[in-house]
Amino acid sequence: MFLSELLYPIHPQKFREEILGKKYHYWRAPVGASNRYDSLYSWQHFEDLLNNWRNANHVQMAAMSPEGKPKTGHKWDKVRDGNLTKADVYNYWRHGHSIVIPFCEYQTQTLWTICNTFERQMPFGQGVANMYCSSRQNAKTFEPHKDTTENFLFHIDGQVQWSFYKKTDDGKNLKKTDEITLSSGDLLYIPIGLWHSTKPLGPRLTASVHFQPKPEKLNREKMYDWYRWFEYQREVKI
Ligand SMILES: [Fe+2]
Repeated sequence: MFLSELLYPIHPQKFREEILGKKYHYWRAPVGASNRYDSLYSWQHFEDLLNNWRNANHVQMAAMSPEGKPKTGHKWDKVRDGNLTKADVYNYWRHGHSIVIPFCEYQTQTLWTICNTFERQMPFGQGVANMYCSSRQNAKTFEPHKDTTENFLFHIDGQVQWSFYKKTDDGKNLKKTDEITLSSGDLLYIPIGLWHSTKPLGPRLTASVHFQPKPEKLNREKMYDWYRWFEYQREVKI
């Protein structure tokens, strides 16, 4: 994968000079290519992970308190808070609480390649991929916030309304500056520190691939082929 393909028609050098760290930018899916991010992650991956509850260590839910009660502006985390059952989480999911699956960058080859490509060709540190999953329109997500990472949002499935804000002159409140709707196959870049929020317009699956700002020591583990290599060596013994 070439970075020039991901950012097309903007050349990576132009992206670095004119957009990176300065403003948000989005790329619409080319006509007929709304499925172009399907290989990043799928609803089937999501379902397999959540059904395998004991092994699903990293699951988070938006607008839930650590005690496991609906609460705007908070986040429940399975490892940290732990006190909800699989059935509880399913129930809240059905009622519109968005689920976040962090650390997905080794789930598929495509996500790994995206991380590796950006790490090598942009002034970024180690990348992480989080899946933002919502079941319906107006599903509960996170309040307006800003992040400390460079964020790339790959819209795998569904539509999301994005709002951007800036502080009012007195610095006390947020004022909405822009609103855009992105769909399957669209890509969005949000620089560090830009205030934003999301509103799902229906079921949606969005991959957030984000990077620490400064190059640290890169230590991306390789992907290995754990089984295909021996499939060709099988033989029937009897
Ligand atoms: Fe964010």
